[in-house]
Amino acid sequence: MQTKYVSRFTVLAILAATAIWSGCSPKKVEPLKTVAIEDGTIDPAEWGKVYPTQYELWKQTGEPTPAGKSKYKKGYDVGEDRRDKLDEYPFLALLYNGWGFGSEYREPRGHYFMVQDQLEVDPGRVKAGGSCLTCKTPYAPALEQQMGKAYFSTPYKEVLAKLPKDQQTLGVSCIDCHDNRGMALKISRGFTLGKALKVIGVDEAKLTTQEKRTLVCAQCHVSYIISKDKEMHSTDVVFPWQGSKAGNISIENIITQIKSSPANAEWTQSVTGFKLGFIRHPEYELFSNNSPHWVNGVSCADCHMPTVTRDGQKISDHRIMSPLKNDLVACAACHDEKPQALRDKIFAIQDNTMIVYLKAGYATATDAKLFEMANKVEATGKKIDKALYAEAKEHYEQAIYRVIFIGAENSNGFHNPKETMRVLTDALKHAASAEAQLRKLLAQAGEKVPEKIDLELSKYTNNRGAKKIMFRPEHEIKSPEAK
Ligand code: HEC
Ligand code: HEC
Ligand code: HEC
Ligand code: HEC
Repeated sequence: MQTKYVSRFTVLAILAATAIWSGCSPKKVEPLKTVAIEDGTIDPAEWGKVYPTQYELWKQTGEPTPAGKSKYKKGYDVGEDRRDKLDEYPFLALLYNGWGFGSEYREPRGHYFMVQDQLEVDPGRVKAGGSCLTCKTPYAPALEQQMGKAYFSTPYKEVLAKLPKDQQTLGVSCIDCHDNRGMALKISRGFTLGKALKVIGVDEAKLTTQEKRTLVCAQCHVSYIISKDKEMHSTDVVFPWQGSKAGNISIENIITQIKSSPANAEWTQSVTGFKLGFIRHPEYELFSNNSPHWVNGVSCADCHMPTVTRDGQKISDHRIMSPLKNDLVACAACHDEKPQALRDKIFAIQDNTMIVYLKAGYATATDAKLFEMANKVEATGKKIDKALYAEAKEHYEQAIYRVIFIGAENSNGFHNPKETMRVLTDALKHAASAEAQLRKLLAQAGEKVPEKIDLELSKYTNNRGAKKIMFRPEHEIKSPEAK
C-alpha cells in the first residue's frame, strides 16, 4: 500500500506539475488550534462547543439534499420521495426475496439518519442483532468491548437499549474519525477494520493522514460478512479480505471468501432455495482496486469533504454527501474542467454502468427462475442431470455475487469505471453459461422451456415484508440506451 499510495502532497506536486490541473495548492485548511476534549466524550454536542463550524455542517447531514442534481442517487432529496432499490431495480426484489433485503432496501441518505433508518426499515433487516450496529453507532467499539461475542447476536433493540436514551439514534460522530486529544484522524473500529487491515498487509501505525482520509470512511463503507453458527445466530462481523492485498481487493477473492465456509451463508434465496452470502456497500473495495483516483492518491474526503470557507476560515465540509449535489466544488481542487463537463463525464460513466448492470441483473433473475423450474421438475420425481445442475449453480453464484457487488456499491460505477465494467461483463458471461446449462438440463428432462422466461416480477415487488410495501413503478430506473 505504501508504495502505491502516494501522499497528498506528492499528489499535489504531481498535479501542480501537470498543465491540465489548476487551482491546486498544498492543503488549504487552516492550522488547528486544538483544545482537549475529555476522554470518553461521545456526544458530538460537546465536541461542537470547541469546533462549532464542523459541528453545524455535520448536523446538516440530517437535512434533505438538493434535488435535480444527481441522476441516480435520490436518497432523500428536497421535495422528492425516498427511493428503494427494489423499486428502482425490480429484478432485485426477485433475487433478494426470502429475507430483509428483499422487503425494503432504501438508497442511502445523510449520516445523521443511519440509526434512525434502521429503526424505520423492515424489521427483517436487523434480525442479525447487535452486529447491525457495527457501522452505525459511535458506541459500537465500546459495546463490543463490554459485551464480547454476545454483542453480535443479542437482539438489535436490546443492544440499542444499553445506550443513553438521548444517544440511541446518534449516527457516525466526531469520535468515529477523530482522536479526542488533538483531533488527528483515527480508526476507531479496531475490532473490524483494524483486524482487516492486518489481513491485507497494512501497518496501522504507519498510515499517513492522506491514507486515513480514506480509511476513516472504510470503517463502514466496506463489505462485511455477519458469520453465523448452526442455529443462525450471528457470531462476528468480518471483512472478506483474506487473500487480498491493499489496492487489490478483488470480487474474485471476496466470492472465494464467502464460499469458503457455510458459516458465511446468511440467507436463503426463496426462488432457488440456495443458501447464499451477501455483499454490502463495497465503496472502499471498488475504489481502491486500481481506480484512476486511487492510483493517484486521491482520498474519499478529497471528493466528499471539500475545503469550504465558513466565517472566513477554510475548513473541511463535514456535510458529507454526493459531490453532484454541491455542484462538484470538490473536483475543482484538481480538475479545471467546468462543472457541466465533469457532470457529463459522471453521467456517461453511470449510464454505461446502468446499461450493463440491468442486463446482468435480469440475466441472473432469469437463471433463478430456471432453477425454480428445475427444482419443480425434480420434485415431481423426474431425473435431472445433477452434474449439470451443479455446474449451472456455480456459474449462477459467480453471476449473482457480481450483481450484488455492483448493486450495493453506491457510486453506480463512478468510483472505478473500468473495474465496474469488468465485473459486470463477467457477471453476464456467467449468467449466460448458467442459462445454457439449465435449458439443456430441462430439455433433457423433457420440459418445454419458453424462449422468454416470465419473471413474475409483481409477485416479488408487491406486498413486500412486514409493511406490505407495494411497487412504485415511477421509481424504476430504465436502461438509458432504451430511451
Ligand atoms: C460509522 C460508519 C460510517 C462512517 C465512518 C462513514 N459512513 Fe458514510 N454512511 C454510513 C451509513 C450507514 C450511510 C447510510 C445512512 C442512511 O441511509 O441512513 C452513509 C451514507 C453516506 C453517503 C450518502 C449521503 C447522502 O446524502 O445520501 C455518503 C456520500 C457517505 N456516506 C460518504 C462517507 C465518507 C466520504 C466517509 C468518510 C469521510 C464516510 N461516509 C464515513 C456509514 C458511515
Ligand atoms: C466520517 C469522518 C468524520 C467525522 C464523523 C467527523 N470528521 Fe472532522 N474531519 C474528518 C476529515 C477527513 C477531516 C480532514 C482531516 C485532515 O485532512 O487532516 C476532518 C477535519 C476536522 C477538523 C480540522 C479542520 C478541518 O475542518 O479540516 C476539525 C476541527 C474537525 N474535523 C472536527 C469535527 C467535529 C467537531 C466532528 C463532529 C461533530 C467531526 N469532525 C466529525 C472526518 C470526520
Ligand atoms: C474522485 C471523486 C470521488 C472519490 C475519490 C470518492 N467518491 Fe464517492 N462518489 C463520487 C461521485 C461523483 C459519486 C456519485 C454521486 C451521485 O451519483 O450522485 C459518489 C457516490 C458515493 C456514494 C453514494 C452517494 C449518495 O448520494 O448516495 C457514497 C456512499 C460514496 N461515494 C462514498 C465514497 C467513499 C467511502 C469513498 C472512498 C472509499 C469515495 N466515495 C471516494 C466521487 C468520489
Ligand atoms: C485530489 C485531486 C482530484 C480530485 C479532488 C478529483 N480528481 Fe478526478 N482525477 C484526478 C487525477 C490525478 C486523475 C487521473 C488523471 C489521469 O490519469 O490522466 C483523475 C481522473 C479523473 C477522471 C478520468 C479521466 C477523465 O478526465 O476522463 C474523471 C472523469 C474525473 N477524474 C472526475 C472527477 C470528478 C467528477 C471529481 C469530483 C467529484 C474529481 N475527479 C475529483 C485528480 C482528482
